[in-house]
Amino acid sequence: MEEKIIVSNNGPLEGTVKIGGAKNSALPIIAASLLGTEPIILEDVPKLNDVSVFLQVLEHLGSKVEYLDERTIKIDSSNLTSYVTPFDLMSKMRASFLVMGPLLARFGITKTSLPGGCAIGMRPVDLHLKGFKALGAEIVSDSTKIEAKTENGLKGTVLYLDFPSVGATQNIMMAASMAEGETVIENPAKEPEIVDLANFLNKLGGDVKGAGTSTIRIKGVEKLGGTTHPIIPDRIEAATYMVGAAMTKGDVMIENCIVSHISPIIAKLREVGCEVFDMEDEDKVRVVGKGKKLIGANIKTLPYPGFPTDVQAQFMALLSICEGQSTVTETVFENRFMHVDELLKMGAIIATEGKEAQIAGVPKLRGAEVKATDLRAGAALILAGLTAEGETKIGETYHIYRGYDDIIGKLRGLGAKIDRIEE
Ligand code: UD1
Repeated sequence: MEEKIIVSNNGPLEGTVKIGGAKNSALPIIAASLLGTEPIILEDVPKLNDVSVFLQVLEHLGSKVEYLDERTIKIDSSNLTSYVTPFDLMSKMRASFLVMGPLLARFGITKTSLPGGCAIGMRPVDLHLKGFKALGAEIVSDSTKIEAKTENGLKGTVLYLDFPSVGATQNIMMAASMAEGETVIENPAKEPEIVDLANFLNKLGGDVKGAGTSTIRIKGVEKLGGTTHPIIPDRIEAATYMVGAAMTKGDVMIENCIVSHISPIIAKLREVGCEVFDMEDEDKVRVVGKGKKLIGANIKTLPYPGFPTDVQAQFMALLSICEGQSTVTETVFENRFMHVDELLKMGAIIATEGKEAQIAGVPKLRGAEVKATDLRAGAALILAGLTAEGETKIGETYHIYRGYDDIIGKLRGLGAKIDRIEE
């Protein structure tokens, strides 16, 4: 038996959708909760498979995890019992590698396996390890395991990231937060999730400055405590519903989003011909596709504040029904066009070469049997199915639940015809 999602065209998406806490902020902050020696309460934690796997990793390491309600979690890491991560859980999710920095800081040693996750590229961890080495850790690794240790504790340093990797920036920030002296990260990632992590570390008693800019300065402290912290809204989830509003020529109010975090999406949706009202003071945007002619555009994924790679697949689904030619250039991951084959099954006209995909817009997609090749690809196929003629059946849906909290309920709330079935 395999679970599938069935979607069909039920007209425009209309109404209001409320965005939840960001997966990509919740995961590093859950990892950073290993640093605190007093209870931590996290609010607006999205209900996702990735979050529950990550919490199991923490429990394995000795943290006490308690759900206060569906999306509020209490974590107590005052008595950690292990610095060795569980292989079976780690292999399920790349982000689990983020426990390495905090464990190195707390124990001076950590043993972990290489991370799993979406197969969207080679996704090495060399920059994470370069950072740990610069902080004075010794790294021993083979093809499956990595051990990092330090005899005399981590020491602050100045380091430059060759690429502004989100995960490497987070792992280094967490390790450096308890190192001796000051660490300076040049060319760090500037994503909003980096800023959320810095704010969280500071609330625990850390000293992190400059997150969100090109230089982050971290003064190490001896001990971090506890706090209550709400996770920032998920900009990728917001963007997904915005693209859905555009594709179905609908009219959707997206509530609980930080408008400045989604400015590239707003700009590109306007470029393809939608009307977008940004109500920054109220943390809302309204996307109107109703009555608009959708015209092709070019997008190029880049580290923040550029166009997010995590919205590339959804936007490609949109461009495939925009009039004229579009180009999508993926510069962040080297293998993130797996959704192209699935969109082709639905009648899209797309040709890829290296980092580029050329799209010739078609008036309508048609329903087909497809599979969610990764998390965001799965979302793109749901959106495509909402506008296609006939029924779309999506397999390998577990990818989708890794990252979208109640996607079926939220889309139904906007009038979509979408169901889960067992086959
Ligand atoms: C995070 C997000 C993911 C998003 C990505 C880019 C989380 C949990 N995941 O992933 O949804 O798609 O940012 O916005 O927040 N790289 C190296 N060496 C390294 C680390 C990364 O070469 O040591 C490369 C990767 O292979 C990739 C690029 O850098 O090509 C971006 O990766 P990175 O920014 O690290 O993404 P993640 O933190 O894995």
